[in-house]
Amino acid sequence: METSPELLREEILKLKKEKGALIMAHYYQRAEIQEIADFIGDSLALAQQAAATDAPVIVMCGVHFMGETAKILCPDKKVLIPDADAGCSLADSCDPEEFARFVAARPDHTVVSYVNTSAAVKAHTDIVVTSGNARKIIESLPEDEKIIFGPDRNLGDYINSVSGRQMLLWDGACHVHDRFSLEKIMEMKREHPQAKVLVHPECRRPLQLIADKVGSTAALLDFARTDNSPEYIVVTESGILIEMRKKCPEKIFLAAPAEDAGCQCNECEYMKLNTLSKLRDCLRDGKPEIKVDPEVAAKAVRPIERMLELSR
Ligand code: 13P
Ligand code: SF4
Repeated sequence: METSPELLREEILKLKKEKGALIMAHYYQRAEIQEIADFIGDSLALAQQAAATDAPVIVMCGVHFMGETAKILCPDKKVLIPDADAGCSLADSCDPEEFARFVAARPDHTVVSYVNTSAAVKAHTDIVVTSGNARKIIESLPEDEKIIFGPDRNLGDYINSVSGRQMLLWDGACHVHDRFSLEKIMEMKREHPQAKVLVHPECRRPLQLIADKVGSTAALLDFARTDNSPEYIVVTESGILIEMRKKCPEKIFLAAPAEDAGCQCNECEYMKLNTLSKLRDCLRDGKPEIKVDPEVAAKAVRPIERMLELSR
């Protein structure tokens, strides 16, 4: 018989206390996971929180690279993830060996990688960025610096367009953000003329161009909280709507449709792999645990720490 959500919640809270664990969740997690988490944030905030916590166990309710980032920053802590298959199509679009060859062929370039990458890719990187600090960090580099940016071509294209840089872009993308439909969003905009359009920079350029705000999940949330529009079309993974509705109960948030409206294309199926029962199991069993090869971690930690310093 399936355990009820109430009982699962009780068990999770008890196990969390016993193990001294900190439960962190990304904004794209299921509502019940966001509700029970000690900390919810975008990928930058999750990395910052991992670096700051005293808890001996971190449960990363997010995707694998988020757990890896926490483990690299806290090698002595146990980092758990409720479902080990929670990957990321964007991180998978950058093969570490291919990336290493690409970088080695351009020794005069500074290598900037999006946090949505494997530890092995980060090991070939000079500075890691998230969508929350990418623009600020890249604009802090000298204007004539040659930069390789990987793996997200849409985020790279966005930064090139706003900063006037000409970074060399790796050809990767997120399968969720890359397929939002401009046509359907324009249609929605006609039906809701007063709605403002909030767009994550992993989306393609045409969507960035119609946006009232382009930003990370935390930046979009912040915009919605401080802006005075009563209605928004949200062009990113639909999990963020949970926190937006919680923070701004008086406003209307509409999830943007993807190209194929027949499916839940604006949901990241990897993020949704984590469930309450898997969270309970991983706290109880101490697995799946995130492990990073210590040699790789020793190289990957430098660009992550550089990011944390530059985003202070
Ligand atoms: P944020 O950095 O905005 O949290 O985004 C992470 C992510 O995976 C977006 O798809
Ligand atoms: Fe990766 Fe895209 Fe899922 Fe974000 S939404 S975790 S970039 S697959």
